[in-house]
Amino acid sequence: MRDAYIVTAVRTPGCKSARGTFKDTRPEDLLSFIVSAAVERTPNIEKKDVEDFAIGCAFPEAEQGLNIGRVGAQIAGFPDETSGFTINRLCSSGLEAIAGATLRVRAGWSEIVIAGGVESMTMVPMAGNLPRPHPEYSKIHAALWGNMGNTAETVATRYNISRQAQDEFAYKSHMKATEALNKKLFKEIVPTPAVKYVMQKDGTYKKETFIIDYDDGIRPETTVEGLAKLRAVFSVGGTVTAGNSSQTTDAAGAAVIMSEDKVKELGIKPLAKVKCYTTVGCRADEMGVGPKYAIPKLLKIAGVDLKEVGLFEINEAFASQALYCIQELGIDMAKVNIHGGAIALGHPLGATGAKLTATLLSNMREKGVKYGVESMCVGGGMGAAALFELCD
Ligand SMILES: CC(C)(COP(=O)(O)OP(=O)(O)OC[C@H]1O[C@@H](n2cnc3c(N)ncnc32)[C@H](O)[C@@H]1OP(=O)(O)O)[C@@H](O)C(=O)NCCC(=O)NCCS
Repeated sequence: MRDAYIVTAVRTPGCKSARGTFKDTRPEDLLSFIVSAAVERTPNIEKKDVEDFAIGCAFPEAEQGLNIGRVGAQIAGFPDETSGFTINRLCSSGLEAIAGATLRVRAGWSEIVIAGGVESMTMVPMAGNLPRPHPEYSKIHAALWGNMGNTAETVATRYNISRQAQDEFAYKSHMKATEALNKKLFKEIVPTPAVKYVMQKDGTYKKETFIIDYDDGIRPETTVEGLAKLRAVFSVGGTVTAGNSSQTTDAAGAAVIMSEDKVKELGIKPLAKVKCYTTVGCRADEMGVGPKYAIPKLLKIAGVDLKEVGLFEINEAFASQALYCIQELGIDMAKVNIHGGAIALGHPLGATGAKLTATLLSNMREKGVKYGVESMCVGGGMGAAALFELCD
């Protein structure tokens, strides 16, 4: 099989759902902006050169329904010939899109595909607008439809991840993110238009846009003591709080995947390649353990040792599960989420896989690291992981 390369990987800022900067910005607009930006940042290509869109979305309905992969392409002004589809593996949807598009290009079925993800958790809530669990099976296997926070509580109690350890992990996430923000290290972010509705003198509202260029959920003032005071939100007497959970977020991310032949023809310097991608299932009631199984499976298939991996982006769905997986795998904490994770930067479900790819590749370039791993737990009881190799 020929090679396929990621030549560009970008993301919008991640903004807090409901109260954050993108609360009035539609997901189609976030997506159409970031895919256009991805093309603009790729030398020697135009929109007409992109054959297809693979777009991850965890709750593809309402504002982000009707196949947002196609809608986003059309709103962004890609020609009718550019097709598009939406793909859903909940929290790994964006990564699934990137891995799938890579395979397609490697197989020779396409030359240039844009893969990414989008989620407005403001406009479409987790579990969707009208959850309808199976009437009988949801009683037998409630965890399949259950709140993700409960699975984080289960991981904490089942594997003895203390409240203090969770809070310290959350604190570090905010501190790393604060430092990266201050040092302007989020190079993968494209300043993105946000919408606001401004009341006019006559009482009507006018739609205005402004630019946001940072993740608005970072809390530089966070302290371990402050986090310790927060009450558990998912169970009485539990340990999972608003402070040690990922934030619900609106965002989009996109990557341009190009064939080896096209890269040569256009004289483009590729960024990285997806060396391997895999998924694994686990118990739904402890879905957070997913990376513990996905990462070793990934590295075994790829024939790469854990010690050869220079950087990890392990999604911080919750501190309890991220910490448990990192500890169990014996990963050096200094290599993990070096600019903070979803506790500080947000977890926009279907966009997260693409967002973390953009962040990981940017960080790999910053540190000159050859191998990077991205991994996340996935609702319903799964783990996903990808191995990226930086190009020289
Ligand atoms: C946990 C959760 C319910 C909290 O939602 P929320 O109440 O909207 O959370 P907020 O970020 O607004 O925080 C609530 C309060 O906690 C406190 N808080 C949060 N983070 C804090 C921090 N780092 N330091 C101190 N206080 C903090 C603040 O008092 C805050 O209120 P304020 O913003 O008015 O100051 C929500 O973030 C959630 O559901 N997360 C998990 C999402 C999920 O399941 N994703 C899928 C994973 S598989």
